[in-house]
Amino acid sequence: MSTKTIFEPFRIKSVEPIRWTTRAQREDLLRAAHYNLFLLPAGDVLIDLLTDSGTGAMSTHQWAAIMEGDESYAGSPSFDRFKKSVQNIFGFAHVIPTHQGRAAERILFSVMCKPGDVVPNNTHFDTTRANVESAGAEAVDLPLPEARLPETQLPFKGNMDVAGLEALIARVGRERIPLVMLTVTNNSGGGQPVSMENARAVSALCHKHGIPLYIDACRFAENAYFIKLREPGYADKSPKQIAQEMFSLADGCTMSAKKDGMANIGGFLCTNNDILARQEKDLLILTEGYPTYGGLAGRDLEAIAVGVQESLEEDYLRYRIASTAYLGDHIAEHGVPIVQPPGGHAIYIDAKAFLPHIPQQQFPGVALAAELYLEGGIRSVEIGSLMFAAAARMELVRLAIPRRTYTQSHIDYVVEIILKVWQRRALIKGLRLTYEAPFLRHFTAHLEPVD
Ligand code: F0G
Repeated sequence: MSTKTIFEPFRIKSVEPIRWTTRAQREDLLRAAHYNLFLLPAGDVLIDLLTDSGTGAMSTHQWAAIMEGDESYAGSPSFDRFKKSVQNIFGFAHVIPTHQGRAAERILFSVMCKPGDVVPNNTHFDTTRANVESAGAEAVDLPLPEARLPETQLPFKGNMDVAGLEALIARVGRERIPLVMLTVTNNSGGGQPVSMENARAVSALCHKHGIPLYIDACRFAENAYFIKLREPGYADKSPKQIAQEMFSLADGCTMSAKKDGMANIGGFLCTNNDILARQEKDLLILTEGYPTYGGLAGRDLEAIAVGVQESLEEDYLRYRIASTAYLGDHIAEHGVPIVQPPGGHAIYIDAKAFLPHIPQQQFPGVALAAELYLEGGIRSVEIGSLMFAAAARMELVRLAIPRRTYTQSHIDYVVEIILKVWQRRALIKGLRLTYEAPFLRHFTAHLEPVD
């Protein structure tokens, strides 16, 4: 398409109403939720940008496939269709379904890690880090040093620091590193892509030392499209060919099908290692279910089988990447500090720069997220000191865009609300913790405004 306007490449067949709230109601709701947007009833949110995970709209093809779901406990044909579709893109020998990404992570790290091990990643997502740590291993983030600055413009800001990985292997020894993970796109680092060149370099280094490489593949299709747009030599390749090439560099992957699987639930773990696959399936039976369904219904497997293919369609990816950039560019042009360039699934506001008067220990990201809710009923999520405590590199507020769910006028409204909060930013106050859980505290923490 050569027109200037890139529009949503779908028509809407089924709609969900949005319930309006007043500012006074939102003040009460926020107080009742202890200033933690995870604790809000979703019905009291106008535009929900908490996550792009499991919140997308399915296609007519997916709904039709759901009717084909076969619910046999063992040997379901839905599993065969799921496995065939996944293998067509990911190419690994073993495909193990799980109820979502973190279940795949838990099984992978339980089987591969022992206490004292070290797992490097370009940047661990929170559940990935928690699952590595729960296996007794240490999760080490190795982003590019330049990526620590939100405003730095780099085409592949999600890359792993290959020199850092080499130094880590030399320092701790190959025996203590059971696997290396590469997260595409790099969610906690701003939804930024990883280049094929970087994946190739990481793969070569891992394999030189006999260390398996696993890809955290949640947003593999968006990453493939960024490679097509930005990396020399890939303009004429299809997103699917690019994804296939990237997975050919790895020994396995974890996947949350709630992202680029275009499904509302599901995930999988893949490996080329027969021995590991057997151990992983044994653990799967213990906690998730039989290996031909792994905690999912047959109909879920069908939705994923169609969804992973749809996520690679070029019309969809063009719209997806353009609509995320639309939000980022429209707030950035008014001075709102964001992680540059805009990522694939989300825009990340730099809360530290937005609210320089709020110290880190008063959670500027949580304070900004609370204001966006008060001003316009928008739900976002802090990715900073509340989520990662001392491991936080930046204080970000993520506005994640559900797939195929909101239109451009919803996003125009979000832009208007953010700019209103930007105008009165000097009046925004910090927050203090009144309750925290021992791990993954951001989901359940209670906070209150400081005076
Ligand atoms: N890895 C990455 C990079 C993720 O973004 C997520 C989830 C997971 C693993 C875990 O997958 O939720 O299916 O268990 N991210 C969601 C988010 C929750 O909002 O970014 P899951």
